[in-house]
Amino acid sequence: MNKELIICDLHVSIDGSPILKGVNLDIKPGEVHALMGPNGSGKSTLSSVLMGHPAYEVTKGSITFGGEDLLDLAPEERARLGMFLAFQYPVAIPGVNVSKFLKSAADAIHPDGKVNATDFLKDLRANMAYLEMDAAFANRGLNEGFSGGEKKRMEILQMLTLKPHLAIMDETDSGLDIDALRVVSKGVNKLMDEPFSLLVITHYERILEYLKPKFLHILMDGRVVLSGGPELVKQLEEKGYDWVKEAAAKQQSAAV
Ligand SMILES: Nc1ncnc2c1ncn2[C@@H]1O[C@H](COP(=O)(O)OP(=O)(O)OP(=O)(O)O)[C@@H](O)[C@H]1O
Ligand SMILES: [Mg+2]
Repeated sequence: MNKELIICDLHVSIDGSPILKGVNLDIKPGEVHALMGPNGSGKSTLSSVLMGHPAYEVTKGSITFGGEDLLDLAPEERARLGMFLAFQYPVAIPGVNVSKFLKSAADAIHPDGKVNATDFLKDLRANMAYLEMDAAFANRGLNEGFSGGEKKRMEILQMLTLKPHLAIMDETDSGLDIDALRVVSKGVNKLMDEPFSLLVITHYERILEYLKPKFLHILMDGRVVLSGGPELVKQLEEKGYDWVKEAAAKQQSAAV
């Protein structure tokens, strides 16, 4: 499936305050990109806008996925095109068990509107085993009483169930212990067997060692101010975000 994500000069406001101020980003099929940036720079805003959260107003620019104008599409239509967001703060849905929730999510994006129940359960068991999750989780309320790390692992179980073409992981690594991070990364890497592209939002180097992005972008004050390879993360860890604006200015003058 040949689906490229193209974000062009994207401006987004919430309650009248501009948050994204001209984001450009291009993710080709099969590519892994990392997005880093200080707290409040707009990373989660960008993921919410990509998935069609109604609170955000796109005031300028465009987003296309596989040539389709995403801004015309409702969140469920974007999911049907193969987009998926693993939330920074997954919410609980008490009373809806994990298995039922995943089944209805899988039904909703299936071309026939329904997945085969036997295949679904077989897949679910296999995916839970792969993610080293206790089978009892399937019958618990979605995220109800889950620990922070368990919620993040649940996001990845959803991702393995839905097999998206493009996934956005918004700080999935935050709150995961060292072993859980390894298991979750193994789960994500399993999806790479098929054409799959990924935007990993993170504050830390560690998950990038597992997911090996080829491209790294730094978002500051609502703009991608610097793009490069994964080596940028080393400089970030050493020097923090202060040096970024200087490096960005150099990159810009070199491009002129
Ligand atoms: N409803 C709102 N009203 C006003 N400002 C908002 C609203 N929602 C988000 N913002 C602001 O938008 C900015 C970007 O927030 P966002 O959650 O996208 O940041 P982030 O880069 O994901 O940060 P973090 O690394 O802490 O997760 C923040 O300054 C936030 O306070
Ligand atoms: Mg965020």
